[in-house]
Amino acid sequence: MTGGAQGAVAAEGMTIQHVAVVGAGTMGAGIAQVAAMAGYDVVLQDVQEPQLERARTTIATMLDKGVDRGKVTEAQRDETWARLTLAQDLGVAVASADLVVEAIPEKMEWKAALFREVETLCPERTLFASNTSSLSISRLANETKRADRFLGMHFFNPVPIMKLLELVVGEATNESTLAAARAMGARMGKSVIVVKDAPGFATSRLGIALGLEAIRMVEQGVASAEDIDLAMTLGYGHPMGPLRLTDLVGLDVRLEIARYLHGEFGDDRFRPPVLLEQMVEEGRIGKKAGRGFYDWE
Ligand code: CAA
Repeated sequence: MTGGAQGAVAAEGMTIQHVAVVGAGTMGAGIAQVAAMAGYDVVLQDVQEPQLERARTTIATMLDKGVDRGKVTEAQRDETWARLTLAQDLGVAVASADLVVEAIPEKMEWKAALFREVETLCPERTLFASNTSSLSISRLANETKRADRFLGMHFFNPVPIMKLLELVVGEATNESTLAAARAMGARMGKSVIVVKDAPGFATSRLGIALGLEAIRMVEQGVASAEDIDLAMTLGYGHPMGPLRLTDLVGLDVRLEIARYLHGEFGDDRFRPPVLLEQMVEEGRIGKKAGRGFYDWE
């Protein structure tokens, strides 16, 4: 379990204590939880009240299960709730933020518009981070007046359990912003990798390549989804096969990333398989819909 030390972190003069996480989906909820567990004062913001309520339930379940498993103490659970606020109002959420972490859907225009709005509401000192899993950090940063204080902070699902934090450095990201994000990653108990702003960074580029090839193999009748997954879990020691993982992440999310990477690289490696397009069209988008490559109901 991640989490840990108390007290503010200073990195070359930059101190992060107040964190606003914008977007209360699976990723936003997880990021808010680990940040609060690590001692930050966190506001989790979403314009939709039901989404905030779902996030509250997700975090409660994760914390309670953590206590049951002996990974989280009851005191840690209570302190986490004491440091975590849920808010619908963006202005309230970012008013005193040292760092804003954006975790809204993977649409460049939505993210760009959000950061432009946040910039009118937050202090001058605020650092900006996006949890995007593939979109260009430099392009997003250039939508703001603080490209030097902007970077990618890419977390992994389930955030409280996965130990990686992928930091993505844009063309203009300065050293103190990277240092502050590194320090925050360490304080949250994550292992940090630093990657330049190339399409798909390190994780999505490799993860999507494997996932798309697995889908093409199902399409070509090479083996069943179950057997392809067993090939990777038992043969290669992956914790989860690429098709089950695609169900977990969401076929719609993976299709969106594949389309983006296909456009960026301009070759066939990331061309979305027809089967993926069809399944998304039919609403078979994975665990959240009850069916994908597996039946989750
Ligand atoms: N609180 C605290 N700790 C918990 C916990 C909780 N609620 N639930 C589980 N844990 C701990 C367990 O105690 C265990 O710890 P140890 O390793 O120290 O024993 C660990 O978490 C694993 O728990 P389980 O053994 O119960 O779970 P598992 O072995 O079935 O693994 C999994 C579950 C971690 C999800 C694993 O299947 C896995 O790693 N899957 C792959 C996930 C993955 O690839 N995620 C990335 C997706 S891509 C992404 O997110 C990025 C993107 O951009 C879309």
